[in-house]
Parts: sequence; structure tokens; C-alpha cells
Amino acid sequence: MKVSIIGGGGRVGSCAAFALQCGGAVSEIQLLDANVALAEGEALDLLHGAAFAADQRIYAGDYARAADSDIFLITAGLRRKPDESRLDLIHRNVGLFRQILEGIRTGGFRKDAIVFVVSNPVDILTQLAAKELGLCWRQVIGLGTQLDTSRFCSLIADELKLAPTQVRALILGEHGDSMAPIWSSATVNGLPLAGLPGFNPAIQTRIFARTRGSGAEVIQRKGGAGWAVALAICDTIHAIALDQRRLQPVSSLQQGAYGIRNICLSVPTVIGRKGVLDQVEIALWPKEKTALQNSARALQETLQKVKG
Ligand code: LAC
Repeated sequence: MKVSIIGGGGRVGSCAAFALQCGGAVSEIQLLDANVALAEGEALDLLHGAAFAADQRIYAGDYARAADSDIFLITAGLRRKPDESRLDLIHRNVGLFRQILEGIRTGGFRKDAIVFVVSNPVDILTQLAAKELGLCWRQVIGLGTQLDTSRFCSLIADELKLAPTQVRALILGEHGDSMAPIWSSATVNGLPLAGLPGFNPAIQTRIFARTRGSGAEVIQRKGGAGWAVALAICDTIHAIALDQRRLQPVSSLQQGAYGIRNICLSVPTVIGRKGVLDQVEIALWPKEKTALQNSARALQETLQKVKG
């Protein structure tokens, strides 16, 4: 399994490469970056640790060498300038993202390749890739709320003094302001979270507010997320590489579940070697379903502005 990371010299791309190295499940990791020296430096640094990690090929490359990739992981993107609106950033990142899609097209790609988008705004860019690359929609996945879900579970565990890997609670919808917390199915090792001592509405409100603000909180302190996003990416890449059929809150082009279609956002999604195997509709509380549909509406509005 060969993974090419476009943006491999950046923080998210290089952290993802390290997570994939520690995970040891893929055989080849190629780093591409507009800053070629940086990609070479990161690849070398990772290669130097290979003897303690896994038997993988790790190198810096280019679009032509990426043509036989199983997965194109796109992490490249720009950050907002101090005087810039979110929409300005979207326009600039859409321009950059279209150049990346052109690079993949020009370099060539396998008909069964998976394109995995992490760059922001992730749902909008996943949609562009799904519409413009000529692959089946099932082969285009965005990281979506996979990272928000990890933050949510980790913060719940921290607050309630539980084991983080035993907490299961989803965030669905947009990876952005309109993300929706799904408390109705939240559990710890199979037990409903709502029945635990100490669990109350005030804690719920606080944990979700922190989850939604997590991206900004990390940007403020260290410039941007790296480690958590890398683990979230690795979880999905392993689901593809090992054809695990894992149910994950990742973004893909919606086909009608929850009354939502023709927009990319995160619903519970079964992931395997062919990409999206299924988008799962489960019973949600009415306010959760409404929040999810509002997320779709917010994304539609942004998409119209991007097109216009
Ligand atoms: C965040 C970025 C990775 O939420 O979107 O930190």
C-alpha cells in the first residue's frame, strides 16, 4: 500500500507520515511538497528512524512518481492571514487545491486510487475533488469530523476521568462551526454515558464548546494541530489499507441519508479498501438530525459562494 502525501513538508503532512511510520501498516510513504527541500528533509528524518519503526520505503517524490499510489493524502493548504476573512481563505485554498488536482491528473493516477482530503475547508475541498477528478464518489474521502470526534471523546474522558479509548461519542456534519454533537449514542465501553455519575447538561455544554473551539485553541498556542490530526488520519488510512470496514465520521458526497444529498459532510461511514462502502443512517434525536441538516445548509451556502 503506497501513500503519497501532498503537503508532506508541512506540519499536518509530516505528522501524518510519522503516525503511518509508527503504525507500520502501509509499505510506502512518499512526501510531496511545493517546498521540495523540506519534503526531502522530512523524508530523510523519517527514513533515519526506520530501523526502529517498520520496513517501509519512505522518500520525497513528485506527481509522476505518485501515479501508482493507492492513496493520495492531501494536507497542503494556506493559513488565514490576520486581516483575512474565512471566505477569502477559502477562495485562496480552492485555487491552490485545484492546482493540486491538476498535478494529480497530469502525473496520472490509478483507477482504484483513493483521494483523502485533509486541507481546509475540508468538506468543500472534498466536494471539489469528488466532482472534478473523475473518480467514483466512493473513492473520495475527507477527514471531516474524525478529528473533532477524537477531541470530543478525549475531552469527555478527561472531564469524567474515563479511559479515552473506551469513550465513543460522535461529532457529525461540517468540520467547522456548525458541527453537531451526537450525545444520543454516547457510550463508555458499551454503557450509556448519560447514566454515569457526574454526567450533566452543564458538563455536556462545556465539553462540546471546548471540542468546537479546539482547532482555534491549538492554533493560538502552537500554530496548528499536528499530533491529533495525524492519528485521526492514520486511523482512516489503516481502515482503507487493511480493508477494515471501520465505521468512521468522515466526509463524503452524501447520497440521501438523513435527507442530505449532493454535499460533502460527515455521517457514520463504513470505510474499506474501495473507500466509502456505506453511509449509515441511524435514529438520532430530532435536535441532532436538525443540527446535521443545518450543517448541510451552511455548507451549501459556502459552496455557492465558492462557485460564484
Ligand atoms: C483543526 C484543523 C486540522 O481542526 O482543521 O485543528
